[in-house]
Amino acid sequence: MRYDLAVFFLVIFFVLEADSTSNKEYNWLRFNYLETEKSSTKAVNRKKAELGKMLFFDKNLSADSTVSCETCHQPNLYFTDGVSLSTLGVSGKKLKRHTPSVINMAFHNGFFWDGGAKNLESLILGPLTDEDEMGMNLKVLEANLNEDLNYQKKFNLAFGIDTIRIAHLQKALAAYMGTLQMSGTKFDQFLIGESELTSTEIKGFNLFVDKKCISCHQLPMMSDFSYHNTGLDSVYSEAFERLAMGRFRITRDSSLIGAFKTPSLKFVSNTAPYMHDGRFENLMGVLNHYSGDLYDNPYLDRKLDPQGINMSTEEKKAIIEFLQIL
Ligand code: HEC
Ligand code: HEC
Repeated sequence: MRYDLAVFFLVIFFVLEADSTSNKEYNWLRFNYLETEKSSTKAVNRKKAELGKMLFFDKNLSADSTVSCETCHQPNLYFTDGVSLSTLGVSGKKLKRHTPSVINMAFHNGFFWDGGAKNLESLILGPLTDEDEMGMNLKVLEANLNEDLNYQKKFNLAFGIDTIRIAHLQKALAAYMGTLQMSGTKFDQFLIGESELTSTEIKGFNLFVDKKCISCHQLPMMSDFSYHNTGLDSVYSEAFERLAMGRFRITRDSSLIGAFKTPSLKFVSNTAPYMHDGRFENLMGVLNHYSGDLYDNPYLDRKLDPQGINMSTEEKKAIIEFLQIL
Protein backbone atom coordinates (compact mmCIF):
# COMPACT_ATOMS: atom_id res chain seq x y z
CA MET A 1 0.00 0.00 0.00
CA ARG A 2 2.85 2.33 0.88
CA TYR A 3 4.57 1.56 -2.39
CA ASP A 4 1.35 2.16 -4.29
CA LEU A 5 0.95 5.53 -2.65
CA ALA A 6 4.51 6.47 -3.51
CA VAL A 7 3.89 5.62 -7.15
CA PHE A 8 0.71 7.61 -7.01
CA PHE A 9 2.44 10.71 -5.73
CA LEU A 10 5.02 10.33 -8.45
CA VAL A 11 2.24 10.35 -11.00
CA ILE A 12 0.67 13.40 -9.45
CA PHE A 13 4.07 15.07 -9.43
CA PHE A 14 4.43 14.62 -13.18
CA VAL A 15 0.95 15.88 -13.76
CA LEU A 16 1.53 19.01 -11.72
CA GLU A 17 4.98 19.62 -13.18
CA ALA A 18 3.93 19.23 -16.77
CA ASP A 19 3.63 22.55 -18.56
CA SER A 20 -0.01 22.22 -19.35
CA THR A 21 0.12 22.09 -23.11
CA SER A 22 -3.61 21.72 -22.94
CA ASN A 23 -5.39 21.54 -26.21
CA LYS A 24 -8.26 23.86 -26.94
CA GLU A 25 -11.14 21.45 -27.27
CA TYR A 26 -10.35 19.13 -24.38
CA ASN A 27 -8.36 21.23 -22.02
CA TRP A 28 -9.07 18.89 -19.14
CA LEU A 29 -6.65 16.43 -20.70
CA ARG A 30 -3.12 16.94 -19.55
CA PHE A 31 -0.46 16.16 -22.09
CA ASN A 32 1.95 15.08 -19.42
CA TYR A 33 3.05 11.78 -20.88
CA LEU A 34 5.53 13.30 -23.29
CA GLU A 35 6.95 15.49 -20.57
CA THR A 36 8.35 12.45 -18.80
CA GLU A 37 10.57 11.59 -21.76
CA LYS A 38 14.00 12.85 -22.71
CA SER A 39 13.77 16.32 -24.19
CA SER A 40 15.60 15.22 -27.34
CA THR A 41 12.86 12.73 -28.22
CA LYS A 42 10.06 14.96 -26.94
CA ALA A 43 9.58 17.08 -30.05
CA VAL A 44 9.49 14.09 -32.38
CA ASN A 45 7.06 12.25 -30.13
CA ARG A 46 4.84 15.27 -29.95
CA LYS A 47 4.64 15.27 -33.74
CA LYS A 48 3.72 11.58 -33.67
CA ALA A 49 1.00 12.21 -31.08
CA GLU A 50 -0.39 15.16 -33.05
CA LEU A 51 -0.53 13.00 -36.16
CA GLY A 52 -2.12 10.22 -34.09
CA LYS A 53 -4.80 12.65 -32.98
CA MET A 54 -5.62 13.53 -36.59
CA LEU A 55 -5.92 9.83 -37.41
CA PHE A 56 -8.08 9.15 -34.33
CA PHE A 57 -10.71 11.60 -35.58
CA ASP A 58 -10.50 10.67 -39.28
CA LYS A 59 -13.49 8.74 -40.65
CA ASN A 60 -11.54 7.90 -43.81
CA LEU A 61 -9.83 5.21 -41.78
CA SER A 62 -13.00 3.08 -42.10
CA ALA A 63 -14.31 1.05 -45.04
CA ASP A 64 -17.15 3.45 -45.91
CA SER A 65 -15.71 6.65 -44.40
CA THR A 66 -18.43 6.85 -41.72
CA VAL A 67 -16.59 5.65 -38.61
CA SER A 68 -13.52 6.96 -36.79
CA CYS A 69 -12.01 5.87 -33.48
CA GLU A 70 -13.86 8.84 -32.00
CA THR A 71 -17.24 7.41 -33.09
CA CYS A 72 -17.01 4.97 -30.16
CA HIS A 73 -14.43 6.71 -27.98
CA GLN A 74 -16.03 10.16 -27.66
CA PRO A 75 -14.07 12.79 -25.72
CA ASN A 76 -17.20 14.37 -24.18
CA LEU A 77 -18.17 10.93 -22.80
CA TYR A 78 -14.71 10.33 -21.34
CA PHE A 79 -13.78 8.44 -24.50
CA THR A 80 -16.64 5.93 -24.26
CA ASP A 81 -19.92 5.75 -26.21
CA GLY A 82 -22.46 5.72 -23.41
CA VAL A 83 -24.27 2.54 -24.48
CA SER A 84 -24.05 -1.09 -23.34
CA LEU A 85 -23.04 -2.54 -26.68
CA SER A 86 -22.28 -0.22 -29.56
CA THR A 87 -23.96 -0.40 -32.95
CA LEU A 88 -21.92 2.48 -34.35
CA GLY A 89 -19.48 0.41 -36.42
CA VAL A 90 -19.60 0.12 -40.23
CA SER A 91 -21.87 -2.97 -40.18
CA GLY A 92 -24.32 -1.44 -37.71
CA LYS A 93 -24.30 -4.79 -35.87
CA LYS A 94 -24.21 -4.87 -32.09
CA LEU A 95 -20.66 -5.44 -30.78
CA LYS A 96 -20.05 -8.29 -28.34
CA ARG A 97 -18.30 -6.16 -25.73
CA HIS A 98 -18.79 -2.79 -24.10
CA THR A 99 -16.60 0.12 -25.22
CA PRO A 100 -14.12 1.03 -22.44
CA SER A 101 -12.61 4.47 -21.96
CA VAL A 102 -9.18 4.98 -23.50
CA ILE A 103 -8.03 7.50 -20.90
CA ASN A 104 -4.86 6.63 -18.97
CA MET A 105 -3.98 3.70 -21.25
CA ALA A 106 -0.32 4.40 -20.51
CA PHE A 107 -0.86 2.66 -17.14
CA HIS A 108 -2.33 -0.57 -18.54
CA ASN A 109 -0.16 -3.55 -19.35
CA GLY A 110 -2.74 -5.51 -21.37
CA PHE A 111 -5.46 -4.16 -23.68
CA PHE A 112 -9.05 -5.18 -24.40
CA TRP A 113 -11.25 -6.70 -21.70
CA ASP A 114 -9.29 -9.97 -21.91
CA GLY A 115 -5.82 -8.45 -22.38
CA GLY A 116 -5.74 -9.90 -25.90
CA ALA A 117 -3.41 -7.14 -27.11
CA LYS A 118 -0.08 -6.72 -25.37
CA ASN A 119 0.57 -3.17 -26.53
CA LEU A 120 -1.28 -0.23 -28.04
CA GLU A 121 0.44 -0.56 -31.41
CA SER A 122 -0.87 -4.08 -31.99
CA LEU A 123 -4.29 -3.29 -30.52
CA ILE A 124 -5.00 -0.74 -33.25
CA LEU A 125 -5.27 -3.37 -35.98
CA GLY A 126 -8.25 -4.86 -34.09
CA PRO A 127 -10.82 -2.03 -34.40
CA LEU A 128 -9.35 -0.92 -37.72
CA THR A 129 -9.99 -4.21 -39.53
CA ASP A 130 -12.89 -5.73 -37.55
CA GLU A 131 -15.85 -6.00 -39.91
CA ASP A 132 -18.24 -4.69 -37.26
CA GLU A 133 -16.02 -1.76 -36.22
CA MET A 134 -14.10 0.02 -39.01
CA GLY A 135 -13.88 -2.86 -41.51
CA MET A 136 -10.85 -1.37 -43.26
CA ASN A 137 -8.60 -3.13 -45.73
CA LEU A 138 -5.04 -2.28 -44.66
CA LYS A 139 -3.62 -2.31 -48.21
CA VAL A 140 -6.28 0.18 -49.32
CA LEU A 141 -5.66 2.33 -46.27
CA GLU A 142 -1.92 2.37 -46.88
CA ALA A 143 -2.47 3.42 -50.50
CA ASN A 144 -4.97 6.12 -49.48
CA LEU A 145 -2.58 7.60 -46.92
CA ASN A 146 0.25 7.68 -49.44
CA GLU A 147 -1.94 9.59 -51.88
CA ASP A 148 -2.91 12.23 -49.33
CA LEU A 149 -0.50 15.17 -49.50
CA ASN A 150 -1.32 16.40 -46.02
CA TYR A 151 -0.69 12.99 -44.45
CA GLN A 152 2.47 12.59 -46.54
CA LYS A 153 3.80 15.78 -45.00
CA LYS A 154 2.74 14.91 -41.44
CA PHE A 155 4.14 11.37 -41.54
CA ASN A 156 7.37 12.71 -43.00
CA LEU A 157 7.72 15.23 -40.16
CA ALA A 158 6.98 12.63 -37.49
CA PHE A 159 8.94 9.68 -38.84
CA GLY A 160 11.29 11.10 -41.50
CA ILE A 161 9.86 8.76 -44.14
CA ASP A 162 8.69 9.07 -47.73
CA THR A 163 6.54 5.95 -47.87
CA ILE A 164 3.85 5.53 -45.22
CA ARG A 165 3.36 2.06 -43.79
CA ILE A 166 0.59 0.80 -41.49
CA ALA A 167 3.27 0.37 -38.82
CA HIS A 168 3.74 4.17 -38.78
CA LEU A 169 0.02 4.71 -38.37
CA GLN A 170 0.03 2.25 -35.46
CA LYS A 171 2.90 4.12 -33.80
CA ALA A 172 1.25 7.51 -34.27
CA LEU A 173 -2.12 6.38 -32.86
CA ALA A 174 -0.38 4.69 -29.92
CA ALA A 175 1.58 7.88 -29.23
CA TYR A 176 -1.68 9.89 -29.18
CA MET A 177 -3.34 7.49 -26.78
CA GLY A 178 -0.30 7.67 -24.56
CA THR A 179 -1.01 11.38 -24.18
CA LEU A 180 -4.62 10.87 -23.07
CA GLN A 181 -3.93 11.13 -19.38
CA MET A 182 -6.18 12.70 -16.88
CA SER A 183 -6.12 13.31 -13.14
CA GLY A 184 -6.87 16.05 -10.65
CA THR A 185 -10.16 14.70 -9.29
CA LYS A 186 -11.30 15.50 -5.76
CA PHE A 187 -9.79 12.21 -4.55
CA ASP A 188 -6.47 12.94 -6.30
CA GLN A 189 -6.40 16.32 -4.57
CA PHE A 190 -7.30 14.74 -1.24
CA LEU A 191 -4.33 12.35 -1.53
CA ILE A 192 -1.91 15.27 -1.85
CA GLY A 193 -3.59 17.16 0.97
CA GLU A 194 -5.29 19.74 -1.21
CA SER A 195 -8.90 18.80 -0.65
CA GLU A 196 -11.07 17.58 2.20
CA LEU A 197 -13.62 14.84 1.88
CA THR A 198 -17.14 14.93 3.33
CA SER A 199 -17.92 12.47 6.12
CA THR A 200 -19.90 10.28 3.71
CA GLU A 201 -17.03 10.22 1.22
CA ILE A 202 -14.64 9.18 4.00
CA LYS A 203 -17.09 6.52 5.08
CA GLY A 204 -17.26 5.29 1.48
CA PHE A 205 -13.46 5.22 1.25
CA ASN A 206 -13.21 3.19 4.47
CA LEU A 207 -15.86 0.76 3.26
CA PHE A 208 -14.03 0.44 -0.08
CA VAL A 209 -11.00 -0.70 1.92
CA ASP A 210 -12.88 -2.78 4.57
CA LYS A 211 -15.01 -4.63 1.99
CA LYS A 212 -11.78 -5.40 0.09
CA CYS A 213 -12.81 -3.66 -3.12
CA ILE A 214 -9.29 -2.25 -3.00
CA SER A 215 -7.72 -5.70 -3.27
CA CYS A 216 -8.54 -5.63 -6.99
CA HIS A 217 -9.22 -1.93 -7.54
CA GLN A 218 -5.79 -0.84 -6.32
CA LEU A 219 -4.24 2.61 -6.16
CA PRO A 220 -3.19 4.58 -8.07
CA MET A 221 -5.48 3.75 -11.00
CA MET A 222 -8.01 1.80 -8.92
CA SER A 223 -7.15 -1.37 -10.83
CA ASP A 224 -4.62 -4.19 -10.47
CA PHE A 225 -4.78 -4.59 -14.28
CA SER A 226 -5.26 -8.29 -13.66
CA TYR A 227 -8.13 -10.61 -14.64
CA HIS A 228 -10.89 -11.92 -12.36
CA ASN A 229 -14.16 -13.79 -12.61
CA THR A 230 -16.59 -11.69 -10.58
CA GLY A 231 -19.51 -14.12 -10.77
CA LEU A 232 -21.50 -12.33 -13.45
CA ASP A 233 -22.57 -15.53 -15.22
CA SER A 234 -23.11 -19.21 -14.56
CA VAL A 235 -22.62 -20.33 -18.16
CA TYR A 236 -19.68 -19.33 -20.36
CA SER A 237 -20.53 -19.80 -24.01
CA GLU A 238 -17.89 -20.79 -26.57
CA ALA A 239 -19.74 -18.91 -29.31
CA PHE A 240 -18.24 -15.94 -31.18
CA GLU A 241 -14.64 -17.02 -30.78
CA ARG A 242 -15.13 -17.53 -27.02
CA LEU A 243 -15.53 -13.80 -26.38
CA ALA A 244 -17.64 -14.49 -23.26
CA MET A 245 -14.92 -16.69 -21.80
CA GLY A 246 -12.70 -13.73 -20.94
CA ARG A 247 -9.03 -14.21 -20.19
CA PHE A 248 -9.30 -17.97 -20.82
CA ARG A 249 -9.60 -17.17 -24.50
CA ILE A 250 -6.04 -15.80 -24.47
CA THR A 251 -4.25 -18.00 -21.91
CA ARG A 252 -6.30 -21.24 -22.13
CA ASP A 253 -5.92 -21.42 -18.35
CA SER A 254 -9.28 -22.82 -17.24
CA SER A 255 -9.12 -21.02 -13.88
CA LEU A 256 -9.54 -17.82 -15.92
CA ILE A 257 -12.82 -18.71 -17.59
CA GLY A 258 -15.07 -15.65 -17.40
CA ALA A 259 -12.24 -13.50 -16.01
CA PHE A 260 -12.04 -9.96 -17.32
CA LYS A 261 -9.62 -7.07 -16.74
CA THR A 262 -10.32 -5.08 -13.60
CA PRO A 263 -11.47 -1.70 -14.96
CA SER A 264 -9.83 1.42 -13.60
CA LEU A 265 -12.39 3.23 -11.46
CA LYS A 266 -11.00 6.67 -12.26
CA PHE A 267 -13.89 8.88 -13.45
CA VAL A 268 -16.17 5.83 -13.18
CA SER A 269 -19.32 7.82 -12.39
CA ASN A 270 -19.04 9.38 -15.88
CA THR A 271 -18.72 6.16 -17.86
CA ALA A 272 -21.97 4.21 -17.40
CA PRO A 273 -23.04 1.58 -18.31
CA TYR A 274 -20.72 -0.90 -16.62
CA MET A 275 -18.92 -4.26 -16.97
CA HIS A 276 -17.45 -5.95 -20.08
CA ASP A 277 -20.90 -6.21 -21.65
CA GLY A 278 -22.33 -3.00 -20.21
CA ARG A 279 -25.04 -4.94 -18.36
CA PHE A 280 -25.45 -2.53 -15.43
CA GLU A 281 -26.97 0.86 -16.09
CA ASN A 282 -25.65 2.47 -12.95
CA LEU A 283 -23.30 2.06 -9.99
CA MET A 284 -26.08 0.79 -7.70
CA GLY A 285 -26.57 -2.05 -10.19
CA VAL A 286 -22.87 -2.95 -9.86
CA LEU A 287 -23.03 -2.86 -6.05
CA ASN A 288 -26.20 -4.96 -5.96
CA HIS A 289 -24.29 -7.53 -7.99
CA TYR A 290 -21.39 -7.61 -5.52
CA SER A 291 -23.69 -7.75 -2.49
CA GLY A 292 -25.39 -10.98 -3.48
CA ASP A 293 -26.49 -11.31 -7.07
CA LEU A 294 -23.25 -13.02 -8.01
CA TYR A 295 -23.11 -16.57 -9.36
CA ASP A 296 -21.06 -19.01 -7.33
CA ASN A 297 -19.34 -20.65 -10.30
CA PRO A 298 -16.18 -22.83 -10.30
CA TYR A 299 -14.10 -19.94 -11.65
CA LEU A 300 -15.25 -17.26 -9.20
CA ASP A 301 -12.24 -15.29 -7.94
CA ARG A 302 -11.22 -16.46 -4.46
CA LYS A 303 -11.15 -12.88 -3.23
CA LEU A 304 -14.95 -12.81 -3.59
CA ASP A 305 -17.24 -14.58 -1.12
CA PRO A 306 -19.74 -16.74 -3.08
CA GLN A 307 -22.42 -15.41 -0.71
CA GLY A 308 -21.65 -11.88 -1.86
CA ILE A 309 -20.11 -8.91 -0.06
CA ASN A 310 -22.28 -7.92 2.86
CA MET A 311 -23.34 -4.26 2.40
CA SER A 312 -26.39 -2.34 3.63
CA THR A 313 -28.17 0.11 1.32
CA GLU A 314 -26.69 2.98 3.31
CA GLU A 315 -23.20 1.53 2.92
CA LYS A 316 -23.71 1.13 -0.82
CA LYS A 317 -24.76 4.76 -1.06
CA ALA A 318 -21.60 5.85 0.79
CA ILE A 319 -19.42 3.75 -1.52
CA ILE A 320 -21.13 5.34 -4.52
CA GLU A 321 -20.40 8.82 -3.15
CA PHE A 322 -16.78 7.77 -2.88
CA LEU A 323 -16.76 6.36 -6.43
CA GLN A 324 -18.11 9.70 -7.64
CA ILE A 325 -14.97 11.57 -6.55
CA LEU A 326 -12.45 9.17 -8.11
C1 HEC B 1 -17.46 0.59 -33.28
C2 HEC B 1 -16.90 1.03 -32.02
C3 HEC B 1 -15.40 1.18 -31.88
C4 HEC B 1 -14.52 1.83 -32.73
C5 HEC B 1 -14.81 2.48 -34.06
C6 HEC B 1 -13.23 1.77 -32.08
N1 HEC B 1 -13.31 1.12 -30.88
FE1 HEC B 1 -11.84 0.90 -29.53
N2 HEC B 1 -13.00 -0.35 -28.47
C7 HEC B 1 -14.32 -0.66 -28.75
C8 HEC B 1 -14.74 -1.80 -27.95
C9 HEC B 1 -16.10 -2.46 -27.94
C10 HEC B 1 -13.61 -2.18 -27.18
C11 HEC B 1 -13.51 -3.37 -26.21
C12 HEC B 1 -13.20 -4.61 -27.05
C13 HEC B 1 -12.78 -5.81 -26.26
O1 HEC B 1 -12.31 -5.67 -25.15
O2 HEC B 1 -12.89 -6.93 -26.77
C14 HEC B 1 -12.54 -1.23 -27.52
C15 HEC B 1 -11.28 -1.22 -26.93
C16 HEC B 1 -10.29 -0.30 -27.20
C17 HEC B 1 -9.07 -0.14 -26.45
C18 HEC B 1 -8.65 -0.95 -25.22
C19 HEC B 1 -9.10 -0.32 -23.92
C20 HEC B 1 -8.77 -1.16 -22.72
O3 HEC B 1 -9.24 -0.83 -21.61
O4 HEC B 1 -8.07 -2.18 -22.84
C21 HEC B 1 -8.36 0.87 -27.06
C22 HEC B 1 -7.01 1.43 -26.63
C23 HEC B 1 -9.12 1.29 -28.21
N3 HEC B 1 -10.30 0.59 -28.26
C24 HEC B 1 -8.72 2.24 -29.13
C25 HEC B 1 -9.36 2.43 -30.36
C26 HEC B 1 -8.75 3.10 -31.50
C27 HEC B 1 -7.36 3.71 -31.54
C28 HEC B 1 -9.68 3.08 -32.50
C29 HEC B 1 -9.52 3.58 -33.92
C30 HEC B 1 -8.45 2.95 -34.70
C31 HEC B 1 -10.87 2.42 -31.95
N4 HEC B 1 -10.61 2.02 -30.68
C32 HEC B 1 -12.05 2.27 -32.65
C33 HEC B 1 -15.12 0.00 -29.65
C34 HEC B 1 -14.63 0.73 -30.73
C1 HEC C 1 -11.83 -10.04 -7.27
C2 HEC C 1 -11.50 -8.69 -7.72
C3 HEC C 1 -12.53 -7.60 -7.51
C4 HEC C 1 -13.09 -7.17 -6.31
C5 HEC C 1 -12.85 -7.72 -4.92
C6 HEC C 1 -13.97 -6.08 -6.66
N1 HEC C 1 -13.93 -5.83 -8.02
FE1 HEC C 1 -14.98 -4.45 -9.02
N2 HEC C 1 -14.42 -5.26 -10.78
C7 HEC C 1 -13.54 -6.31 -10.92
C8 HEC C 1 -13.56 -6.77 -12.29
C9 HEC C 1 -12.72 -7.90 -12.88
C10 HEC C 1 -14.53 -5.98 -12.96
C11 HEC C 1 -14.99 -6.16 -14.42
C12 HEC C 1 -15.87 -7.40 -14.48
C13 HEC C 1 -16.42 -7.71 -15.84
O1 HEC C 1 -16.77 -6.81 -16.60
O2 HEC C 1 -16.52 -8.92 -16.16
C14 HEC C 1 -15.04 -5.04 -11.97
C15 HEC C 1 -15.96 -4.02 -12.25
C16 HEC C 1 -16.32 -3.04 -11.34
C17 HEC C 1 -17.06 -1.84 -11.67
C18 HEC C 1 -17.52 -1.43 -13.06
C19 HEC C 1 -16.49 -0.56 -13.72
C20 HEC C 1 -16.68 -0.35 -15.21
O3 HEC C 1 -16.09 0.60 -15.72
O4 HEC C 1 -17.39 -1.13 -15.85
C21 HEC C 1 -17.22 -1.13 -10.50
C22 HEC C 1 -17.91 0.20 -10.34
C23 HEC C 1 -16.60 -1.90 -9.45
N3 HEC C 1 -16.06 -3.06 -10.00
C24 HEC C 1 -16.56 -1.54 -8.12
C25 HEC C 1 -16.20 -2.41 -7.10
C26 HEC C 1 -16.50 -2.23 -5.69
C27 HEC C 1 -17.21 -1.02 -5.12
C28 HEC C 1 -16.04 -3.33 -5.03
C29 HEC C 1 -16.21 -3.67 -3.56
C30 HEC C 1 -17.57 -3.71 -3.08
C31 HEC C 1 -15.39 -4.18 -6.02
N4 HEC C 1 -15.53 -3.60 -7.26
C32 HEC C 1 -14.73 -5.37 -5.75
C33 HEC C 1 -12.77 -6.85 -9.92
C34 HEC C 1 -13.08 -6.75 -8.56
